[in-house]
Amino acid sequence: MAKVKTKFICQNCNTSYPKWVGKCENCGSWNTLVEEIIEDNKGKNAIAKSEGMGKRIISYGLDEVILGDSQERISTGFGELDLVLGGGILPAGVILIAGQPGIGKSTLLMQICGFACKNHKILYISGEESASQVALRSKRLGVYNTGLKFASSTSADDIAETINTDNFDLVIIDSIQTLAMKEVSSASGTVSQITNSSNLIMNAAKKNNTAVILVGHITKEGSIAGPKTLEHMVDVVLNFEGDRYGGFKVVRAVKNRYGSTSEAAIFEMDNNGLKIVKNPSQALLAERQNTDGSIIMATLEGGRPLLVEVQALVTKSSFGYPKRTVSGFDLNRLNLLVAVLNQRTKLDLSDKDIFVNVVGGLKLNDHASDLAICMAIASAAAGRKLDDGVVVFGEVGLSGEIRIAKQTDKRVQEAKKLGFTKAIAPAHKDSKDQFIKPVKDLREALIKYLQ
Ligand code: TYD
Ligand code: MG
Repeated sequence: MAKVKTKFICQNCNTSYPKWVGKCENCGSWNTLVEEIIEDNKGKNAIAKSEGMGKRIISYGLDEVILGDSQERISTGFGELDLVLGGGILPAGVILIAGQPGIGKSTLLMQICGFACKNHKILYISGEESASQVALRSKRLGVYNTGLKFASSTSADDIAETINTDNFDLVIIDSIQTLAMKEVSSASGTVSQITNSSNLIMNAAKKNNTAVILVGHITKEGSIAGPKTLEHMVDVVLNFEGDRYGGFKVVRAVKNRYGSTSEAAIFEMDNNGLKIVKNPSQALLAERQNTDGSIIMATLEGGRPLLVEVQALVTKSSFGYPKRTVSGFDLNRLNLLVAVLNQRTKLDLSDKDIFVNVVGGLKLNDHASDLAICMAIASAAAGRKLDDGVVVFGEVGLSGEIRIAKQTDKRVQEAKKLGFTKAIAPAHKDSKDQFIKPVKDLREALIKYLQ
């Protein structure tokens, strides 16, 4: 068979190239070329030829549609993860789970298999690890002799064919970056291989009512490796975040066609694999010592309130340019908050190195962390600590004003449950609760509580 002719098209500006290049010379964007098959005689006078070729589309009311939701979902065995998925894995749903190497993707999927293969026919395909490696892990996780099927393959064509013929309920592919399709000549892991391979597999999955979980890698910058279109194509995108070396690991949905994206599942890794953390706030606060620079913040992880310790260290810069380092929070946001502290309060941080750490490997995405970060820095700079039993939350604006945090009630409830006695937070409109000690701006907060 003759090799199929292909060309490379920039997805940004539609320029076509005979060979792959990293940068599009026309628009200057990187990594946007996608391989496409050249089909002769098509495209010529396409519009003229197409006139009158279409058929009238028959439309119908949405209430006439048969809802797919009545189908039984596949439970993962982790109640919290089922919630994140919107009630479990939907048949024919395609899920992409992405995370850093070593965070525990393969482990989590193996555990899901162990639970779900009691009632479902499941195939685990690995392109990264050998059969004996996977078998060893499955033995450790107690999934060794449960009827789970395993195959080692990197061929998207073979996998699609297997889905078409073998009637599996769930197929797990570890990982999408290792797949390749015969028709596409570029190496596995490239944009065109990922797009075409996953398209092929997704079509097979939808046709055969098979659910598919794809494992995705993550780039240095933290986004999912491969084309953005992959995230558009799949039904659910799960992010697996956290510290590789211990600490908590959080699975959250960044996209979900079948449920909300406001849930999160918190895991911990031990010798027997991943476990749901039942009471994360308590575990996070267990080792806390109240010193200067340490603040307890009431945040929300998914829809769940969570108390986390934020630590700051402020030292004199030994070089001209002050250094700002952060773990578990956005560095740009930290720089912004330091600037606000500098301008709107009497604190002078221009010749100070600042280090901020969120305990437990968590990453704070909540705007209400602002006040806690500011107070941790101020507390470290002044060498003064807050009273025991104080939690902090609230968003900080550029003029130093403290803005309302969403779901204040949930945060307050969690703090009360764990024995805290007051919250430094923005004023809550309809709360006569004495628990909240309202502050209007950063200055007021620092003068009242850290002087
Ligand atoms: P893995 O699931 O292979 O990560 P990923 O597929 O995301 O790259 O493994 C994650 C880490 O977890 C690995 O370094 C070993 C460790 N681990 C445990 O601590 N306990 C266990 O039971 C297992 C299976 C792995
Ligand atoms: Mg893996």
